[in-house]
Amino acid sequence: MYNIGIIDKINLKGLEIFKKNNNFKFEVVTDLSKENLLKKIPEFDGITLRRGKINSEILSKCKKLKVISRHGVGYDNVDIDFIKKKNIKLLVTDSSTSTSPAEHIMYMILSIYKGVNFFDSMVREGNFSKAINLDINQNFELFNKKILVFGFGRIGKKLIKKCLGFDMIVNVFDPFVDEKIIKSFGGEKVLDFKESLKDTDILSLSLPLNDKTYNLISLNEMKLMKKNSIIINVSRGGIVNEKDLDFALKKKIISYAGIDVFEKEPPDESNPLLVNKRVLLSPHAATFTKECLENMSIETVKNIINFFENTIDKSKIVSL
Ligand SMILES: NC(=O)c1ccc[n+]([C@@H]2O[C@H](COP(=O)([O-])OP(=O)(O)OC[C@H]3O[C@@H](n4cnc5c(N)ncnc54)[C@H](O)[C@@H]3O)[C@@H](O)[C@H]2O)c1
Repeated sequence: MYNIGIIDKINLKGLEIFKKNNNFKFEVVTDLSKENLLKKIPEFDGITLRRGKINSEILSKCKKLKVISRHGVGYDNVDIDFIKKKNIKLLVTDSSTSTSPAEHIMYMILSIYKGVNFFDSMVREGNFSKAINLDINQNFELFNKKILVFGFGRIGKKLIKKCLGFDMIVNVFDPFVDEKIIKSFGGEKVLDFKESLKDTDILSLSLPLNDKTYNLISLNEMKLMKKNSIIINVSRGGIVNEKDLDFALKKKIISYAGIDVFEKEPPDESNPLLVNKRVLLSPHAATFTKECLENMSIETVKNIINFFENTIDKSKIVSL
C-alpha cells in the first residue's frame, strides 16, 4: 500500500477517489511549517502539493519519496535541482488549471477598463448623479486595444481567444513558441518585447517564475509603456517588481495594475500595493472557482494514482 501525503488541503472530490482505491492510504497535512514538513514528508511514498515549500533540506531526509503531484502548474515552491538529482518525478495538473486563470485575467482587465469598483461604490454611497461629471479618461473600450500576452502556454492560448472575442489586437511574446502557432491562434509574434511595450495598452503575464523571469518587468520596462497602459499579473509574484510597480503607478508612468500574485504570500502589511488605489488585487485566487478547484483536485489525485499504477500519461510528467 502506498502512503500518500496530501500537503495542504485540496477539494474533497479528489480525496474521494483515494478512498475508493485500496492501494493507497493518505494523510492530509495542513501545518505547512518547515519543522512539520521536515517531520512528515519522509514518511510518504508520494505527495500532492498545493502550498508549502519543499526545499533541499526536506528532500534530503526523504528516502522513499518517488513523486510530487502538484496541485497546479507552477513549481517554484519545489527545489527542482534536488528532485532531478534524486529522480523524484514531478506531475502537474495541466488539463484543469488554465480556463479559470484566463477568465481571471479578463475579469481584471474588464474591471479596470470599466471602473467596476469605483462605479459600484458611487451608487452605494449615494453619488449616482455625480457619474455624469466624471473624468472618463480612465474608462476604455477593449475594442482595438493592443494586448501583449507574455508567455504563450496553456493560459496564454486560452486568453487569446477571449481577447479576440472582444476585437482586441493580440501580440504575443514567447521565444519558445513558433510564429506559425501564434498566427494560427490569431496573434502576432513579437521578437523584441521591450520594443512592443511602447505601443501596448495591456501587458498580461502568463509565464513561469524562475531565475530568468524574476523582476523581468521593472521600472525600466514600465517607463517604456504608455501612460494609460495597465499591467495584469496572474502568473507569479516576483516577475513584476512590486516596489517599482507602486512607484510607476504613483508617478503615473503607467495607469493601473491587476495583481493576483505576490512575491511574498500573504503579502506583508507594509507591501505598498495594499494601499495603492490604482491596483486591483486578488489573493492568488485565479483558480478559485468551483469547477477549477474540483477538477484540479481530481487531476492531482488521478496523476499520483496513475503514476504508481504505471498508467501515467507522459505529458503530465514535467521534463526537468
Ligand atoms: N494565479 C494563479 O492562480 C495561477 C494559476 C495557474 C498558473 N499560474 C502561473 O501561470 C504560469 C503560466 O501557466 P501556464 O499553464 O500557461 O504555463 P505553461 O507552462 O503552459 O506556459 C508558460 C509559457 O511561458 C513561456 N515562457 C517561459 N519563459 C518565458 C520568458 N522568459 N518569456 C516569455 N515566455 C516565457 C513558455 O514558453 C510557455 O509557453 C505558471 O507558470 C504558473 O506559475 C498562476
